[in-house]
Amino acid sequence: MSQGFITALYLAAGILFIMSLGGLSAQSSARRGNTYGVIGMLIALAITAFGAVHSYSLLIIAVGVGGSIGAVLARRVQMTAMPELVAALHSFVGAAAVLVGLASYLHGTTFPTRAEAVIHEVEIFLGVFVGAITFTGSIVAFGKLRGLLRSKPLILPQRHWMNLSVLAACLVMGAKFISASGTGGLVPLLVMMVLAGLLGVHLVMAIGGADMPVVVSMLNSYSGWAAAAAGFMLDNDLLIITGALVGSSGAILSYIMCHAMNRSFISVILGGFGADEGAAPAARASGEPQGEVTPISPSDTATLLEDARSVVIIPGYGMAVAQAQYPLYEIARHLKARGVTVRFAIHPVAGRLPGHMNVLLAEAKVPYDIVLEMEEVNADFPSTDVALVIGANDIVNPGALDDPSSPIYGMPVLEVWKSTTAIVMKRSMASGYAGVENPLFFKENTRMLFGDAKKNVDAILTELRANASLSAA
Ligand code: TAP
Repeated sequence: MSQGFITALYLAAGILFIMSLGGLSAQSSARRGNTYGVIGMLIALAITAFGAVHSYSLLIIAVGVGGSIGAVLARRVQMTAMPELVAALHSFVGAAAVLVGLASYLHGTTFPTRAEAVIHEVEIFLGVFVGAITFTGSIVAFGKLRGLLRSKPLILPQRHWMNLSVLAACLVMGAKFISASGTGGLVPLLVMMVLAGLLGVHLVMAIGGADMPVVVSMLNSYSGWAAAAAGFMLDNDLLIITGALVGSSGAILSYIMCHAMNRSFISVILGGFGADEGAAPAARASGEPQGEVTPISPSDTATLLEDARSVVIIPGYGMAVAQAQYPLYEIARHLKARGVTVRFAIHPVAGRLPGHMNVLLAEAKVPYDIVLEMEEVNADFPSTDVALVIGANDIVNPGALDDPSSPIYGMPVLEVWKSTTAIVMKRSMASGYAGVENPLFFKENTRMLFGDAKKNVDAILTELRANASLSAA
C-alpha cells in the first residue's frame, strides 16, 4: 500500500470520527453518529492490519482475545455499571501509552540530528507520564465506582505540596532522561513512571462522592492525550487525530460538567476538590435522623397526581436500577390525557453516566420536548403542584445550596422542595452516591413513598387506571 493511499484513508477515518462526534451530540442523530464511528474504526483497523503489521499471527491472536473479551463485557455490562467499565477501559489506554513509550525508547531509533532525537525523547517522556497517571488514576476511579474503594475523599495533610513535589521530581527525572545517551535514560524514565503512577492514585483518591463524574470525564481526556502521545511516538497520524479528538472532547465534557456542578476546572486537574480540609462530613454521615418523615401510599400519590395541574418528574439512579421508565411514561401519558402538564427534569449528573436519564427516557419513547434540563425547569418549581422524585437523592439535596460544610455544597440541584408537594420514591432512608444525608426528606411538604421504584410506579399506574374506569362508569 502506498504511503499516499494510507494517508488518504487515515484522513477519511479521521473525518468519520469527527462526523461521529457531531452525530452523537443529539439524541436524534446518535445512531447515525455511532455508525460513522464504527466505519471509521473499521478503516483504521484495516489500514493498520494491511499497512503496518508484520506478524499477522500475533495480530489475529491479539484481536481475537481482545475482541472476545470486549464482546462478552459489552453484552454483560449493566447500564448502571457503564462508568466503571469506561474507567477500566481508560486504564488500558494509559497502560498502552506507557508500554509504547518504553518500547519506543528501548527500540533505540537513530535520528539525523540531536534536535530530532530530543523531540522524540520528549514525546516518550510525556507519553509515559500521561499514560502512567491515566493508568493508576483510572484503576482507582474503577475501584471507587465499583465500591471496592471507599468513595470518601482521602485528604492527606499538605496534599497539594506533595503533588507539587512529585511533579518537581518528575521534571528532574525528565532532565536526566533527556541528557542521557543511548538507552541510559531508562532508570530516570522508570522512576518518573512510578512517580506519575503514584500521582495518579493520589489525585483520584482525593476526590470523592458526587464529584466522581468529573473525574471520569477528566480521565477520558487524559486517555486521549496519552493516545495522541503514542501516535507521535509511533509516527501514526490517525492515532494523533483520534487521541486529540478524545482528549479535547473529554476536556470539553469535563468543563461542561464542572460548570454544571459549580466546580473549578483547574482544581479538578490539580485533584482534591471533592472536600475541603475544613469540611466535617462525618456529622452528616453519622446516620443521626434529622427529624420525622411523612410516608405516603401509592394510592394517595395517585390522587395527588390526578388533582395536580402541573407535575415535574425527577428521575435518578434508582429509576435506572428499578428500570421504571416504561410505566413511568405511562403515568405521564395518563396524566397528560387528563389535562395535567407533565414534564421530566434532568440533572446533569443524575444516574451514573452523562446523559444516563436521557437515554433511559428515550428508550421508553418519552418525547424530547417534555424532557427539560435543570436550568430550564428550576424556576418553575414554585408553580409546580407535585414534584415526583423517583430514585434520585443527591441531585435534589437542599444541603448543596445551604450547608457550606456539605461535601456537595455549591453543586446546583433541582429545587423540588419549592413545589407544593414533593414525593420521594426510594426504598429506605439510605443516602445517595455522595454518602450525604438529605434534609429534603424531613421537609413539611415532602412525602416519602418507600419501596422499589418499579413496584410503586406500577401500583400508582394501576390506581390511576382504576380511578379512570370508575369515573368513566
Ligand atoms: P443517588 O444520589 O445515587 O441516589 C439514588 C437513590 O436511588 C438512592 O438514595 C437509593 O435509595 C435509590 N434507589 C436505588 N435503587 C432503587 C430502587 N430499586 N427503587 C427505588 N429507589 C432506589 O442518585 P442521583 O440522585 O441520580 O445522583 C447521582 C449521583 O451519582 C451524584 O452524586 C453524582 O455525582 C454521582 N455520579 C454521577 C455520575 C454521572 S456522570 N451521572 C457518575 C458517577 C457518579 P435507597 O437505597 O433508599 O432505595
